[in-house]
Amino acid sequence: MENENMQKTYWIESGHNPDLSAAEWESLLSIYAPQAKLERQDDGLLLDTIASEALDDLWPRLGGSIRLAELINGEVATDQLAEFISTDLSSLAELTGKRLLGLGFTGSGKPHFLVELAEKIKGMLKEKEIGCRFMLPKKGEHRLSSATVGEAKIMEKGSEYLLLQTDTGFQVFRTLKIQDYKQFSERDYGRPERDMQRGMLPPKLALIMINLADSGGERHIYDPFCGVGGLLSEALALGWKVEGSDISTKAIEDCRSNLIWLIRHMNMSTDTWQVRHLDATKLSESVEHCSVYSMASEPDLGPALSKKLTQVKAKEAVKRLKPLYAAFLGQARIVLKPGARLVFLAPVWHTDQGEVELNLQREIYLSGFSHIGFKTVKTMYYARAGQKVGRRLYCLKA
Ligand SMILES: C[S@@+](CC[C@H](N)C(=O)[O-])C[C@H]1O[C@@H](n2cnc3c(N)ncnc32)[C@H](O)[C@@H]1O
Repeated sequence: MENENMQKTYWIESGHNPDLSAAEWESLLSIYAPQAKLERQDDGLLLDTIASEALDDLWPRLGGSIRLAELINGEVATDQLAEFISTDLSSLAELTGKRLLGLGFTGSGKPHFLVELAEKIKGMLKEKEIGCRFMLPKKGEHRLSSATVGEAKIMEKGSEYLLLQTDTGFQVFRTLKIQDYKQFSERDYGRPERDMQRGMLPPKLALIMINLADSGGERHIYDPFCGVGGLLSEALALGWKVEGSDISTKAIEDCRSNLIWLIRHMNMSTDTWQVRHLDATKLSESVEHCSVYSMASEPDLGPALSKKLTQVKAKEAVKRLKPLYAAFLGQARIVLKPGARLVFLAPVWHTDQGEVELNLQREIYLSGFSHIGFKTVKTMYYARAGQKVGRRLYCLKA
């Protein structure tokens, strides 16, 4: 019998920010699967020497990964590929009737090769009296989108195979999981209170931050600028204890409504949350010193913008916000447990004369935090196309 907990090799497709996806994996692996090896590839991550059980625990909590595929053969000669895939597809015991076949590349590859391959596989299955329908990537793309794989139910009705070309043939991966993208939008758009002026943290980014803030201790997170509770909702949905505070009474009320909605919506039986009215620059007056296990937050990002700031206005915003961030850092250091993590975002304004940001190196050093480094990551930065303000992500250790 196959050992369920065997160590296997996986290919992971990153979300739209590959650096943050890699940081999220590196951070979690260093704590929960330190023997695993992570390698960056052009369009994803290669994960080696990890037990399938550890992977099953980690996968549902990831914000930055959208598809997971398992290596099922490390070297198939090009002329054996159709035979290999048709045999694998026909041997899926749980399926009866027509099979659905998805094909794509993990790296680059020639689309016409996939058309020929799919036709060949279909022909081979026909000889075994098994029907087959195939789905191939759109023009100019290397694979089907993970949403298409989910919508078409390819994994339930057949298999998706992803090919990585080697010098002598192909490595063949089979897709095992795709991100549960529906639950993110349900939580994001279903919640009763939203606040576009104050700013809404994208749920996947919130999850990445929670994972980066996990230092392996108790799963308990504090957000001192909780707003309407975007980050707290994701942590609560993961089963963490959550605490939040905000200087705005309205934000606190909205945050409470959102957390209560989430608990009902997910049928959770939990009372492990608390939100209160507090100024983040005076945290240590109300929060016990050295008591917080992990902290993650999106503090004030400045005004909501309908157009780009000028460089002068952006520099004024830096002057206004820097004291808030400096005071918050000092307070966070007092209330966090030694060794606990602080993960937070700071604004980066895109002006016509270039980027303007807070540059908090001195404040970080003075408050006694150290940076957590990631071997496979170039920059910890988040922005969607066309955004006027990006977010610099800081990952610190107390
Ligand atoms: C960008 S929003 C946070 C959004 C939140 N992450 C979410 O997803 O809902 C920033 C929040 O910081 C709060 N804030 C600003 N200055 C503060 C201070 N000194 N102490 C606590 N909260 C503050 C604002 O009221 C606002 O709700």
